[in-house]
Amino acid sequence: MNTDFYDEARDGTSSLLHNIVYCSRAAPGVTAHDIQAIIATARRHNAAHGITGLLVFGSDVFFQWLEGPQAKIVELMARIHRDTRHNTVVELSVNEEVRERVFPTWDMELVQPDDIHEVLQDALRDTRAAVNAKALRELIQRVDQACLS
Ligand SMILES: Cc1cc2nc3c(=O)[nH]c(=O)nc-3n(C[C@H](O)[C@H](O)[C@H](O)COP(=O)(O)O)c2cc1C
Repeated sequence: MNTDFYDEARDGTSSLLHNIVYCSRAAPGVTAHDIQAIIATARRHNAAHGITGLLVFGSDVFFQWLEGPQAKIVELMARIHRDTRHNTVVELSVNEEVRERVFPTWDMELVQPDDIHEVLQDALRDTRAAVNAKALRELIQRVDQACLS
């Protein structure tokens, strides 16, 4: 078993992960400095709580992929909903029984709009789990429709 992709519980069994994908609209006046601050906080917090994923920002729209232990993801989403740097948070997919991470090494990667399609297509090619493939396909479609760059 590749432990890069599975979360190992103490008894050696792999534990289920939670995956949420959402989009939101940046609040008026949000700057590149704000985005860097979000990423810095996210990397620090996520690394400490076993959360990984990516954030893409373009044309005043955010898309974020979050994966990690269920309680941690639920707690983070509550904070994200309260964050005044964005609004209109719409959850695009929620999977409660994910067995492998799609982005195991990314505490929170800021992906540029020009790169997001390729990043997601690569992830789709590499994933072995049907639930992840479904969420990735959904996100690719939404990102392409949003014309981020
Ligand atoms: C689009 C967006 C994505 C965010 N992603 C994360 C994240 O992945 N991890 C994180 O800890 N905070 C993230 N944040 C910041 C949280 O909303 C929150 O400000 C931060 O976790 C600190 O929370 P606190 O002020 O309650 O301590 C994000 C904020 C925005 C607007």
